[in-house]
Amino acid sequence: MTDVTIKIIHHGDSTRIQQATDLYKSKSVGKLHLGQFPVLEVHARENVLFGATNDDGELRGVLLAGAVDIQTRKDYEGYVSPSVLTPRTIEILDTAVLPAYRRQGVGTALVQAAIELYEKNGFHRFLTASRFGGCGSDSSFGLLLRLGFEVLREVQEYYRGSSFQCPDCEGTCLCSGYLMLREE
Ligand SMILES: CC(C)(COP(=O)(O)OP(=O)(O)OC[C@H]1O[C@@H](n2cnc3c(N)ncnc32)[C@H](O)[C@@H]1OP(=O)(O)O)[C@@H](O)C(=O)NCCC(=O)NCCS
Repeated sequence: MTDVTIKIIHHGDSTRIQQATDLYKSKSVGKLHLGQFPVLEVHARENVLFGATNDDGELRGVLLAGAVDIQTRKDYEGYVSPSVLTPRTIEILDTAVLPAYRRQGVGTALVQAAIELYEKNGFHRFLTASRFGGCGSDSSFGLLLRLGFEVLREVQEYYRGSSFQCPDCEGTCLCSGYLMLREE
């Protein structure tokens, strides 16, 4: 496991928000909607943005998590029981690690840190969507399974219509998405 420190990035920390924005919008990640400073700043205020840094303070990875809200509900409606879609359920929204630091446990450390924080605060149900199905390289699917997430459903071309440009597809991501749930 690589040496990283996981900390919450405060929405007022404009330097870190800018670094996280750059990471999200980089070609190897392609989360274009979060690659805009004002959008990510609002998310960091309304949700929780985690950052993984090395000893020198360089940002290697980021993760956004927050309570299921009206917007994210839409993604899961029809796939997940309405009883799961409440603000008591936390969604792991977007995990991204710089390519040079992948496959060293940074993504796992970020997801673990998010789960720990929310569990300490009484939240025990987590939803997420993981890219899979033909694409699959640099996906979070394996690490999520190991951290106790179970597959609810595979959705073909889950990301079609979103601004996500995954590293494996030219333009819009046409990978499948696995909707996943972790609960105690
Ligand atoms: C998905 C993503 C966040 C994972 O980050 P990561 O830091 O590589 O995650 P981890 O290192 O914890 O785990 C990834 C793999 O590396 C393996 N790994 C972890 N530590 C390792 C080590 N020390 N040596 C060898 N392999 C290791 C894990 O077992 C896992 O393998 P698997 O996928 O075959 O099950 C990253 O690949 C990424 O940013 N992808 C592009 C953005 C994206 O698509 N995000 C959406 C998520 S689907």
